[in-house]
Amino acid sequence: MVSAALPFPDAILALMRRPLLALLIVLAAIGVFAGGLAWLLDTPRPPAGAARGERLYLVLCSTCHGADGRGSWRAALFLIRPGNLADAAIIGRRSDEYLFDIIKHGGAPIGRPGMPAFGATLRDDDIKELVRYVRGLAGSP
Ligand code: HEC
Repeated sequence: MVSAALPFPDAILALMRRPLLALLIVLAAIGVFAGGLAWLLDTPRPPAGAARGERLYLVLCSTCHGADGRGSWRAALFLIRPGNLADAAIIGRRSDEYLFDIIKHGGAPIGRPGMPAFGATLRDDDIKELVRYVRGLAGSP
């Protein structure tokens, strides 16, 4: 008898005879899954009194780029490669216009489609704040 050797199918069969218990287990599993997803997608809370650029960055950008700009492991989990915004050698070579444009229009126009466009969400002043903040990330060791 196969089922005698494998306790698992028996357990599942027993569960199917108890629909309410099975329902509760399924609901609990969905709860754990949704909670895990929320935890995964949550962004760091900006410190009290943070400048506008920092707040915007932490809320909108850190999911992919990480709070320190080095790229978040959450992004890596979804096979997104956001590069390293804290690398002064890379960011130092970029002009303010380049940084402004890639944030406003996304990477797609210049063949780097991983970076989404924020022109519809952010005013130009906010994008300028973000450019300044990204420069600051590259400046920190
Ligand atoms: C969905 C994930 C995601 C989010 C959110 C995101 N980025 Fe990006 N970003 C990327 C990826 C991926 C790249 C690299 C694109 C490439 O090289 O192909 C990138 C590239 C960049 C670059 C260019 C870096 C370089 O070396 O050229 C800048 C600057 C940048 N992002 C800033 C931001 C800012 C500021 C925000 C928030 C307003 C932001 N990103 C939000 C994924 C993201």
